[in-house]
Amino acid sequence: MIPPDWLVSGAVMHRIGELPLHVRHPNSEDCQMVQPVIAGNWKMNKTVAEAINFASSLRNAFPTPPQVEVIIAPPFTALHAVAEVLRGSAVRLAAQNLHEAEKGAFTGEISAGMLREVGCTYVIVGHSERRTLFGEGDQMIHRKLRTALSADLKPILCIGETLKEREEGRMQNVVERQLKEGLNNLNPDDISRLLIAYEPVWAIGTGRTATPDQAEEAHLLIREWIAGRYGGERAAATAILYGGSVTPKNIADLMREPDINGALVGGASLDIGSFVQLVGYSSIPEV
Ligand code: PGA
Repeated sequence: MIPPDWLVSGAVMHRIGELPLHVRHPNSEDCQMVQPVIAGNWKMNKTVAEAINFASSLRNAFPTPPQVEVIIAPPFTALHAVAEVLRGSAVRLAAQNLHEAEKGAFTGEISAGMLREVGCTYVIVGHSERRTLFGEGDQMIHRKLRTALSADLKPILCIGETLKEREEGRMQNVVERQLKEGLNNLNPDDISRLLIAYEPVWAIGTGRTATPDQAEEAHLLIREWIAGRYGGERAAATAILYGGSVTPKNIADLMREPDINGALVGGASLDIGSFVQLVGYSSIPEV
């Protein structure tokens, strides 16, 4: 049993609030390990035909399931066709967004139930492009999380600061606000069904990735925040993905950090060769 005021991350354990104290726990084999997750967010890219091609190649690239949870998030129009191609494989399907209501007069929107029916296991919620380009705020994001969870979809909650916020030294504030308002007293069972993606806005699609140290700092902060509210065991079991210009070149270094459990990848997930390399990041040789 891990004491409630201790936090386990990767193979290290420390008392919440006592930073930095990365003490290797003598019983580190007791520590829960989170299965790594590699998720591709295609955004508004790929026709149905292109998506089918990609999905078939991905399936063939891994005749035995890889050690990581592989997720792809095609646009809505390709979800059904991709689900058919991936049926029976270990690759999981995510939607990029959902509407908060169960159904109704919301022209152009897609419900959680529709996504479940079409074969989605996951749904991305609160991506920074939704926040900045489509005006989604923390409260709406929270409602979407609840809707997703009640439809048995696993949300991937995206959070992260803008460049301005980072430069003003507000990264911690912003991330904590997004967690507090986004999660807003979800119960522990709900927390165990969601993933968090830390995606600094300044790193998304810019080619300017966070350094492993910068990413780890934010991930540890997130894990500590969860530990403070839901206990160390729950925090240790939460998958926290990094997103923002992840490529086959930088993924291995990021994944070596104890609190980075996976990656949410945009641009580099669109090419099958590059995505297969990302999934196999553990065999990329160190340079
Ligand atoms: P990027 O996008 O990998 O192209 O930076 C990441 C994301 O938006 O999830």
